[in-house]
Amino acid sequence: MKAVAAAVPNIPREDWTAHPRFRTQALLLGSHANFRRVSRYLVDQAAREEFVGLHSLFDRWIAAMRSHEAYEERKLYPYLEYRWQVSLEEARTGHGELHARADEVAEAFRSLARPADPTDSTDSSTDNPVLRALQAHDRTLDDHLNVEEEAVIPLLLALDPQEFDRYYRSPLSMLIPADRRAL
Ligand SMILES: [Fe+2]
Ligand SMILES: [Fe+2]
Repeated sequence: MKAVAAAVPNIPREDWTAHPRFRTQALLLGSHANFRRVSRYLVDQAAREEFVGLHSLFDRWIAAMRSHEAYEERKLYPYLEYRWQVSLEEARTGHGELHARADEVAEAFRSLARPADPTDSTDSSTDNPVLRALQAHDRTLDDHLNVEEEAVIPLLLALDPQEFDRYYRSPLSMLIPADRRAL
């Protein structure tokens, strides 16, 4: 397929759900809704200091998010950038910011597992570092998902169903000529 330098589609968020291809071509929003739900659950549990099983839930959730991000960076973004001649660099940057916040959450969980030191005046074990770190991660996640949805959903909805189907079924090597691929 030739890259088509067509006008970049601009479909406002309030029109997405009424779009005829919303159900089939905006599947990304379902994953994002799940991510937001899990993030809220983790924050709520930490606020109640219900920490049992929370670290392992966080780790499993992060693993699922990482595979979602890998798909986006290896296929979704390159295809849409090629197809619509746009940059999705801001969304890539958001993944890096999320990783930094996730590292802080992991460190907060580790600090929870360490015994409190009564002689250490800087010891923060009496406050709730896991909650603070999860709240920061939640804000970064929400920012990233909003940026990504605004950038990507109109581009997906604007693909005709045949092209979307081809995109969905084909490896990137069949969608973009080798000399146009960054990877
Ligand atoms: Fe995403
Ligand atoms: Fe993403």
